[in-house]
Amino acid sequence: MGDQPTQSDGRARHVAIIMDGNGRWAKKRSLPRAIGHQRGVEAVRRLVRGLEPMGLDCLTLYAFSSENWKRSESEIDDLMNLMRKFIKSDLPDFVANDVQLKIIGDWRSLAPDIVGMLENALEQTANGSKKLAVALNYGGQNEIARAAAKAAEHGDITSDSIAANLDTHDLPPLDLLIRTSGEVRLSNFLLWQAAYAEMLFVDTLWPDFKPEHLEQALSDFAQRERRYGGR
Ligand code: FPP
Repeated sequence: MGDQPTQSDGRARHVAIIMDGNGRWAKKRSLPRAIGHQRGVEAVRRLVRGLEPMGLDCLTLYAFSSENWKRSESEIDDLMNLMRKFIKSDLPDFVANDVQLKIIGDWRSLAPDIVGMLENALEQTANGSKKLAVALNYGGQNEIARAAAKAAEHGDITSDSIAANLDTHDLPPLDLLIRTSGEVRLSNFLLWQAAYAEMLFVDTLWPDFKPEHLEQALSDFAQRERRYGGR
């Protein structure tokens, strides 16, 4: 994935989302955090099902960061089990709706059964025309370090060679990065790719995020003037 988005019609092709606020959504309702994450998966499902009319080529979701291992064992188990359930229940939907699954991050070090499920899902969705990239065990600094190490194997460390070795090398340039829940930081997500992306921070907690919120973000994006450092 190169540095500068190329589309000229003002339309976003690639949106990434830091899905934040599941825990606070649950806390506000005196519910366990696990329920917040469950509702978070429902928000993911709604969004993926509503993607078609939005004309996006790629949606990237931050589902599990390399820092999320610091959470309690039971919360990590809940998140991994939700992942298993999500792949199992939604894979037929992806295939039927022309969605190509992509995984970014150090996902091959996850539990072997999850790795197997993901490999199968990648294979089954390989011909889809719209990409859904899920970041799993993902950290942006680690991604850049891995890409630079690969570039160095060929003695060629340039921004182009690093970009060509990022996990996102076969995704369109990132146009818009959204974070929910009112937090204003990147949390090690798509650090390289965000170089020229627009940013949108919304107060909505992730379980309350609806396709209409994304549609609004896309229409705001289309109004923004992007200069990529020029005038
Ligand atoms: C942040 O909420 C969210 C996460 C750590 C993970 C996001 C995961 C999901 C939406 C579910 C799994 C996704 C898929 C694709 C199956 P938080 O717990 O940090 O919320 P808080 O800051 O309010 O506590």
